[in-house]
Order: sequence, then structure tokens, then C-alpha cells
Amino acid sequence: MPRMTVVTGAGGQLGMELMRRLDESAAVGLTRARLDVANAPLVERTMRDIAPDLIIHTAAATNVDECERRRAAAYRTNVLGAWNVARAAAQTGAAMVYVSTNYVFDGAKLGPYLEYDDPAPLSAYGATKLHGERAARQVLERLYVVRTSWLYSRWGRNFVTRLLTVDPADGPLRYVGDQVASPTHAGDLAQAILQLVETQAFGAHHLANEGATSWYGWAAAVLAERGLHDAALEEIRADQFPRAAVVPANSELANVTARAVGVTMRPWAAALADLVRAAAG
Ligand SMILES: NC(=O)c1ccc[n+]([C@@H]2O[C@H](COP(=O)([O-])OP(=O)(O)OC[C@H]3O[C@@H](n4cnc5c(N)ncnc54)[C@H](OP(=O)(O)O)[C@@H]3O)[C@@H](O)[C@H]2O)c1
Repeated sequence: MPRMTVVTGAGGQLGMELMRRLDESAAVGLTRARLDVANAPLVERTMRDIAPDLIIHTAAATNVDECERRRAAAYRTNVLGAWNVARAAAQTGAAMVYVSTNYVFDGAKLGPYLEYDDPAPLSAYGATKLHGERAARQVLERLYVVRTSWLYSRWGRNFVTRLLTVDPADGPLRYVGDQVASPTHAGDLAQAILQLVETQAFGAHHLANEGATSWYGWAAAVLAERGLHDAALEEIRADQFPRAAVVPANSELANVTARAVGVTMRPWAAALADLVRAAAG
């Protein structure tokens, strides 16, 4: 019998990329309209009816500054939601992928973070995603915790798609240069998750495109791929760009455990170049 996979948050960047890669007859994508993951009885009933073998839980409150302002709502979705989904997985006998974030780290480390480095989140978003990891682990053994970072996709509004349409002549483009992470193509991540779940290598994994850059470096790379080498870009410090959440200075991820079981990610600049070319074509 083919494996039945459920994807939560199916309307989001990663959820859409997963659904594009899964066989329609063996996958159910649940958007927020169909399943609010914070609704425990609904999660239980929905998963019991579908009886999945695998749940890829991507649904989350992902607006980092909004999570800071609306902590209770972030907790409800990111922690209670993860716990509900993990309990439903345990009840139906499904394995689960919980997608987490580089923002579980405080950014003080020199060099990339390993899977078992100690987390110490600086923001409500990072804290709720870490508590979601723990909530899921508490009730489920067959669990992959996949931490990723700075996701973008070809669809919707994200850092990259905004820069694909911006006209540099409209005004100065200012981007923070002293916060560094690994920009990650949601399509690459979806592909890597689908490889990882074939390994049965449960536990914590980092899956981000290789290498790291700053917001400034990332913006410069998008504009360069558009052929706008002379666009006026200004590098600013994080303290010149006040925001509700504190963001780690360095949250580059090293993909050590996934690589050990044969799941690799390409360099971030190569993934970005592909997406910009695809958007132009
Ligand atoms: N984006 C990043 O840079 C990034 C970095 C590291 C890790 N991650 C993690 O990667 C995963 C996927 O991120 P993404 O970029 O694909 O996020 P996304 O595009 O924001 O998608 C998340 C989806 O979850 C849905 N959602 C929110 N609250 C929900 C609820 N209570 N019940 C059910 N669905 C709900 C959202 O629906 P609405 O749009 O209707 O609210 C949205 O469709 C998330 O777990 C995120 O924490 C993301």
C-alpha cells in the first residue's frame, strides 16, 4: 500500500513546495482554512479520518515581529499546534516531521550551529518554535526535527520576490549587514525533507542551503542575478533597523546529521540563481 502523507500549512511556502512534489493520490494538503492546528479535537478527528503514515508539519506563525507582539497567539499555534499534531501522529501510528528554525539559537557562536548546540532563543518566535520541538518530542519517538532558515520561494511575498520587482531607482535600498544566516530555497528544502523521511534517521537535523550571508549580501545577490550590478544598495547595522523581535547576529546552520545519512543541500547562491532565472523565464 502506498504511504499516505499529510502536510499541514499546505498554503505556505514550504507546504506548497511539498505538495508539488508529492503524488496527489497519496498526499493530503491541509491549509489553515481546513485545519487550525491549535484546535485539538479537530486535529485528532482529521488525522483519524485520513490515517496518515507520515505528517509533515509546516504550519506555524512565521511572522517573527508579529509573534513578539502577539505571544499568546504564537504559543497557541507554534507550541500547542505542534503538540496536537504530534499526539495525533502517535494515535494514528504516523511518523512526523516538525519544521523548526535557526532562531532557536542566540547567535553568539562563531561559526555555523550544529544540531546539538544548545538553543537559547532571543525572540518569542524562536522560543515558541523550540517549545514546539520539545512538545512534539515529549509525545512522539518517530520524529524528525528539521531546522531551516531564511526560507523563500517563487510564490507569495518573501524577501526574494520583493527584490525581484523592486525598482532601485525608486529610492535607496538599505539592508542589514551584521545579521548572518543561510538563505534557503523552499523547493530545495521540500526535496531534502522527502529524502530524509526515506532514511528513518529520526532526531534533529539542520537542512539549509550551504553557506551564509547577511540580509545585505542576500539582497545584493538577488539584484546581481537580475543584472542590476550598479543598483544603489546601502549596508546598515541592525541597530539602524529597529524591529519588535531580536534577531541573532549569526544563525548559520551546519547540515551535519542529514549529510551523514546522504541528504545534502547545495550552496545558497546556486539555489537563488536558479529561482531568479526561473522567475525571469
Ligand atoms: N519562513 C522562514 O524564513 C522560516 C525560517 C525557518 C523556519 N521556518 C519554519 O518553516 C515552516 C514553513 O515556513 P513557511 O515559510 O512555509 O511559512 P509560511 O509561508 O508562513 O506558511 C505557514 C503556513 O501555516 C499556516 N498557519 C498559520 N497558523 C496556522 C494554524 N493555527 N493552523 C494551521 N495553519 C496555520 C499559515 O496560514 P496563513 O498564511 O493563513 O496564516 C501558512 O499557510 C514553519 O514551521 C516555519 O516556522 C520558516
